[in-house]
Amino acid sequence: MKSRLFFSGIILCCLLHSNAQNSPHIPRLVRNGTYTQLIVDNKTFLIFGGELGNSSASSNEYMRPIWPKLKQMNLNTVFAPVYWELIESTRGRFDFSLVDTLIISARINKMRLVLLWFGTWKNSVSCYTPGWIKTSQQRFPRALDKNNIPQEILTPFDRNNLEADKTAFVALMHHIKQIDEKQNTVIAIQVENEIGMLPDARSHDEAANTAFHQAVPEQLLNYLQKNKGNLTPELDSLWKVNGYKTSGTWEEVFGRSLATDEIFMAWYYARFSNEIAAAGKAVYNLPMYVNAALNRPGWKPGQYPSAGPLPHVMDIWKAGAPSIDLFAPDIYFPDLKHWCDLYTRSSNPLFIPEIKFEAGVDAKAFFAFGNYNCLSFSPFSIESAEHPEKEPIGKTYDILKQVTHLITKYQPAGGVKGCLLEKDSLPKEITMNNYHLSIDHEYKLGWSAGAKDTIWPLAGCIIMSVGPDEFYVAGTGVVITFTSAITNRRAGFLSIDEGKFINEKWIAGRRMNGDQDHQGRHVRIPMGEYNIQHVKMYTY
Ligand code: DGJ
Repeated sequence: MKSRLFFSGIILCCLLHSNAQNSPHIPRLVRNGTYTQLIVDNKTFLIFGGELGNSSASSNEYMRPIWPKLKQMNLNTVFAPVYWELIESTRGRFDFSLVDTLIISARINKMRLVLLWFGTWKNSVSCYTPGWIKTSQQRFPRALDKNNIPQEILTPFDRNNLEADKTAFVALMHHIKQIDEKQNTVIAIQVENEIGMLPDARSHDEAANTAFHQAVPEQLLNYLQKNKGNLTPELDSLWKVNGYKTSGTWEEVFGRSLATDEIFMAWYYARFSNEIAAAGKAVYNLPMYVNAALNRPGWKPGQYPSAGPLPHVMDIWKAGAPSIDLFAPDIYFPDLKHWCDLYTRSSNPLFIPEIKFEAGVDAKAFFAFGNYNCLSFSPFSIESAEHPEKEPIGKTYDILKQVTHLITKYQPAGGVKGCLLEKDSLPKEITMNNYHLSIDHEYKLGWSAGAKDTIWPLAGCIIMSVGPDEFYVAGTGVVITFTSAITNRRAGFLSIDEGKFINEKWIAGRRMNGDQDHQGRHVRIPMGEYNIQHVKMYTY
């Protein structure tokens, strides 16, 4: 795709003043109480995604053989970076040719895009800023560590830094609106990438030091007072120890600690990101989120990339960045449930833009969509799959696509549950409608050769209760026994059918009885098989 669109300063200026009205059916988030849905083409949409490795989308030629792989893995959405250094290599001259090709390719392959704004910060540092920023440090100042050593990190305390990023981001949003408003290929935007301060918990540049010794902004103090009692426990205890003060400097209100340095920095990162997002949304109001590199438990602020939208500073981000719709974890640590629980506090819907692409990610997807109001799941470096046609995540996505209408219909009222099991897991006990379900790893039956292995593959499932005595179960490697929740009644299977949904219509395949349900004892999906089973129960 050779066409290149150059926007001169004059054209950009006109674009900046164009009508910011949005078409009513652009992708949007709809909140209903604590439940959030992503609406695309006026339908609830779940992102079965994959994020590209950082450099792949910088070359159309490199991307060409990747698209068929993504299709083979049944992705409905690709997470792809937009690189500031490449769209504005000369100040004020914009080249969106890479974005255009991404959008066209996604359309050809019937996929959506989440665009990642690699702007001021990418994994803490400012490596994607254009050369004219990097080489002009007087004009675009850096964060300093406590020894006054400049970092490869632009400080968020400087107006020039903010305005330069905002100008580029706004130009990008204008461009997306112009070429995509009718087709909605781009469904969400990530603002920056893994913002985080290193090697100290806060910057020590002059503007940062001045702000640090000023009063905590009213906006934050008001938020704290309004949400007292509902703050995350980490922030609440910091505020409480210092007597729930309602005025004073950062150290007066929160005490002198690295934790205070981090929340101070989080506030200014949040304000910066908020202004970028708000300006972009004023042009084209797509859902926008910020992602976080998770903090390794036990590490101190400054040792991990600090002050991003981490669970313990989430309230600071919520207060400082109301234009950011979601705070999203990049999950590279093993305990998925732990991180999902932390990221669903305060009604933050679960949106996973990156998860480690490793064995077991298929089971994790079933769990994430089943157990949470999960809007997005997306293994990182998805194109690295060597045999995309055999990738377990592709098989999982095939299944999850088929049952999306059931998840979105029954989840708001609690009719959907998910489960993730490893070798040492206890059976998961849940109650749905008139039945208690006990879900276990299929290897526990002892029938599989793999049961003798020291490590077992992860098993996962999603269960949808669609009527008092009716369920759909999907997943891999699980065995589920049902007992009656009604006193003095026993449960039996009326029928178990394997099958598929085609355009939301159930097409039954094999009747699963005899050995397949162990003569009426349980529902079973063998490890490594991916299927949907329609279960009808009765009691006697
Ligand atoms: C998380 C970042 O957000 C990605 O861009 C990439 O650098 C991965 N880490 C690499 O593991």
